[in-house]
Amino acid sequence: MRVAVVGATGAVGRTILQILDERAFPLDDLVAFASARSEGVRLGFRDDEVVVRALHDRWFEGVDLALTSAGGAVARQILPAAAAAGTVCVDNSSAFRMDRDVPVVIPEINPEALDGHKGIVANGNCTAITALMALGPLHKRFGLRLLVTSSYQSVSGSGMKGVRELAEQVDKLHEQIETLTRPDPQALPAGEVFGRTIAFNVVPHAERFDPEGSGFTTEELKMGNEVRKVLGIPDLVCSATAVRVPVVAGHAVSIYGRFESPVSPKEAREVLSRAAGLRVVDDPARDQYPTPLDAAGLDDVLVGRVRQPDGDDRALLLFAVGDNLRKGAALNAVQIAELLIER
Ligand code: A2P
Repeated sequence: MRVAVVGATGAVGRTILQILDERAFPLDDLVAFASARSEGVRLGFRDDEVVVRALHDRWFEGVDLALTSAGGAVARQILPAAAAAGTVCVDNSSAFRMDRDVPVVIPEINPEALDGHKGIVANGNCTAITALMALGPLHKRFGLRLLVTSSYQSVSGSGMKGVRELAEQVDKLHEQIETLTRPDPQALPAGEVFGRTIAFNVVPHAERFDPEGSGFTTEELKMGNEVRKVLGIPDLVCSATAVRVPVVAGHAVSIYGRFESPVSPKEAREVLSRAAGLRVVDDPARDQYPTPLDAAGLDDVLVGRVRQPDGDDRALLLFAVGDNLRKGAALNAVQIAELLIER
């Protein structure tokens, strides 16, 4: 089995290499691709190194399985030809997620969606996966009807460049932290990735604003689209607010869900505690709740703060946190690949 990782030098690509190693993924040969900028870069893999190659037109020749994470534009350009040639591609970008022929798969939630794939399988959006790990089991039991989310998304969701931009701004501002009570807008650093100051700030603008003028960002629209597709609820009403926060790894999602059947927080905790890939961290009396730093580096999604709005026995509030580079991206992609092999 020859496996290619495309975008191997990126935040997700590097995590894919790590997870292939951790899970002893059954491959005979690994090829790593990135842009021409990275040609010759050496990345650690298992007890050895792989030398990164520049992506070229025939990159998929002899490749059985490709794990791709080089952004939507690259995916659109390179995946159809690879899939047509028989390389099964698990893509981390949003380029194909809404295509009818492309399943969006979370192995713990909808493994059956993998049946009949046509060569491209999409990994879900990192925030949607985090929310879906909690929503999937609750939907199965209680029937999800309405969803409102607010997400607190780490800068690594924008790749290595996002992490670097935060680090540079923290460096610049931490000496003058008192000035931030009355900042001079002209003196605040703003980089290319986030457009606004991300250090010591939160920015309610992830990706770009909907060109159709809905007022939502494209990142926010993915939540509804992907939850509808993965859970098979085409008429689900969903609205999302996605906020970039100065956190390096770990996306948190505050979830309001309304269900067809009555549900108590106790029942919800029971269902969630039996779900694979999920860990309930929820004990207010002992200050137990999940935060992004608790989830960073973990495979499980953590869920807590389970509560019910007054007077509505069909609604729940939850707080879910997942490592966006692992379960939100690389781990889920490798799990899809494992499922492909199993089948
Ligand atoms: P490179 O490091 O050479 O730019 P991230 O999301 O962390 O920024 O990572 C994006 C990944 O996609 C990197 O590995 C990057 O490689 C890769 N990439 C970006 N553009 C291209 C391209 N045109 N062809 C191949 N790989 C690309």
